[in-house]
This record gives sequence, C-alpha cells and structure tokens, in this order.
Amino acid sequence: MSSNSFDLPIDLLRGRQSVKWRRYGPDVLPAWVADMDFAVAHPIRRAMERMVADQDYGYADRPDGGAESYLAQAFRARMKTRFDWTIDTDLVQPLGDLVQGMFAVISALTEPGDGIILPLPAYPPFHMSIRDTGRTLVPIAMRDNGTRRVIDFAELDRLAAVPGTTMLLLCNPQNPTGRVFSREELDAIGKIAVARDLLILCDEIHADLIFDGATHIPIASLSPEIAARTITLTSATKSFNIPGLRCGVVHFGSGELRERFHRRIPKKVLGTPGIPGIDATVAAWSHGQPWLDDVLVHLEAMRDHVAARMEAEMPQIGMRKPEGTYLAWLDCTQLPIATNAFTFFHDRAKVGFNPGEDFDPEASQFARFNFATSQPIIDRIMDRMVGAVRQANR
Ligand SMILES: Cc1ncc(COP(=O)(O)O)c(C=O)c1O
Repeated sequence: MSSNSFDLPIDLLRGRQSVKWRRYGPDVLPAWVADMDFAVAHPIRRAMERMVADQDYGYADRPDGGAESYLAQAFRARMKTRFDWTIDTDLVQPLGDLVQGMFAVISALTEPGDGIILPLPAYPPFHMSIRDTGRTLVPIAMRDNGTRRVIDFAELDRLAAVPGTTMLLLCNPQNPTGRVFSREELDAIGKIAVARDLLILCDEIHADLIFDGATHIPIASLSPEIAARTITLTSATKSFNIPGLRCGVVHFGSGELRERFHRRIPKKVLGTPGIPGIDATVAAWSHGQPWLDDVLVHLEAMRDHVAARMEAEMPQIGMRKPEGTYLAWLDCTQLPIATNAFTFFHDRAKVGFNPGEDFDPEASQFARFNFATSQPIIDRIMDRMVGAVRQANR
C-alpha cells in the first residue's frame, strides 16, 4: 500500500481499533473526530517498525541528550524551516497530549475564578479546561462578516479590560471554523493582550494544515513583547495523523513564564511522552514533508469538492471554505428540521458529525464535518445528506 493512499478500503478503516470508525453503528459513516482516513507517512511507519523489529522497549537513549531533548531539537528545526520562528529549546516542555497542556497551563498561570476569553465556536476541551479548573468562561462570538468568521477587536478589548480577566485562549488555525488568522488579525490580538496584560494560550496543533492563499504565523513569533506573554501548544499528531501516539510540546515565550509554570506544576507531574510518540513525531517533522505536501493537495481538493456540492445540492446549508484544517463548520439553521443538526444527520442520513452545541451552546443547528477521507466516502456521505435534506423539505 502506498503511503500516499487516500482511499483505504472501508473494511480496513472499520477494522481500526481507534474511535472514529467505532463510535457509531456500522450503518453510520463517521465524519467527526479529527483523525484522517489515510495511511501514515513512510518515515513514521519505518520508525514504528524498527522499534517492533528490535523489540526496543527499554528506557530510551536518543541523540542530542535524551529523548525529550531529541524532540525539542526536532521541534526547533521544524519551527524554523516551516514558519521561520526561532525558538530556544530550553523553553520547550514535552507532553503526552495538548489537552493535558491546556489544563496544566491554565491551572499554573491563572487563578480560580479568573476570566478566560474564548472565541466561539471552540473545540470542546477548551470549554472543559476553563470549567473544570474553576475559571470563568468569557465568550466572544466569532461573527460571520459575509466571507469568514472574525473576532470583533473592539469587543475583545472591552472584555480584556474587565478586571480579573487574565487569559485569552486562542486556537490558530481555528477548530472548528478553519480560520487561519492573518498577520493583521494576530497583530491586533497581540496589541490588546499587551495593553490589557493578558496571557495568550495559543493552540497551533493544526498549523501544518494550511491551504493555498493562507499562511500560518505562530503568534509568539510576532514580537518579543507578545512572545513574553504567550504559551504555545503544538504537536505533529493532527497533520501526520498519529494522535494515538500521544506526544506534543508546550513552548513558553519566556523563561519567566516557564518558571512560573513549573513553580505550580513540577516537571515530574507531567510525566514524559512515550518513545513511540517521540520517534514518530521526530520522523514526521524531520522527514514527513513530502507526504504532507500530497495530503494537503488532496485535502484542498476535498474541501473544494465538499463546498461545491454543498452549494449546488444543499444551498440551505451555509459553509465558508476553511483556510486550514480538514474541518468544515456547517450552518444548518435554514434547514426545516425539528432536532439539532447532529441528530438529524445521524438519524436521517446515517452520517456521524460532531454536534455544534459541543463547540458553542448556541450552535445546536450547526455540525462539524471532518472531510479528511477519500472522495468516494465523501460522496457517499454527501449523497446521504442530500437524501435526508430532500426528505426534510417535502
Ligand atoms: C485544537 C485542538 N487541540 C488539541 C487537540 C487534541 O490534542 P491531544 O490529542 O494532543 O490532546 C485537538 C484534536 O482534535 C484539536 O483539534
């Protein structure tokens, strides 16, 4: 099987032991959790095969002073080549997963009750990380300006000025809208953060999944002033399709932020990512780009295909083309349906999306569509949607 295979047999996908194809019944086509239905890059496969062949499961030795440092060096090289962002490996903390990082950073750098600004709709664990740590959600709606969803900076500034509001949780590229914030937008956010003394926790896990016309800019790379208040979370797990291997990094924009963090969360509390995750991540970042280039061509074609079919066959559903990620945020508010959008498509079309209300309590008539699959599967999903929508309109 080629490592660039975008049309794995459906039986193979259903046979995987990961959640995407197992959550819903065998009659449902899943298009929810952010996994891709593709084979992984050869360098990743080789790294995993070597470990199994050598039965090499001992405490790891790796170049550059141990496994964590090996990961940090690969991260530094990747950020430089991909985003021209120069980082100091001393400011990198390896992690098992980014949601853990989100919770740890919020717990360490804010206080119970603090206001945390979150642009909505937002990936559900952002909501959980605010709620479960006893902080206060300060929502700001990303409004549709006729072409895309944007943050209202006057509103952001007003919210940031409220005493006790100490952090902005940003996701760029944004899940679920697929927005890739422009330099102007990031500059405006950074200026407000500096003026209002806000910390920025920026999740950039989708940074490699960018389509033609957009550019990913790590917000911490904008200026030393913005870096000094920014904590960045990222990993290779979304773009290289290895989320089950559990490996990511937190980058602190200054030594002072790192010290503050470790005063509350000693390094040992975080544990370390497993060696399969580290080896797969280093293989991906160091040698996986040709595979990713092919994936991006396929994903962009699928995005355009989905958008074209949506417009031609289901014009009641609103969809802005995502600038990055493989997620489409479907506005189903014009559909004549009695349930939420998720239930409608699950029950009537046998398609498993993510429910909109998980991203924003007011978005129950929205659904998130993961289009990282083959065109035949996308077409089956969309044929089923068209049938259900026709029925609903009768
Ligand atoms: C924005 C964002 N952050 C974090 C994650 C999950 O990261 P992890 O599996 O490392 O916790 C996802 C997964 O879809 C995501 O979309």
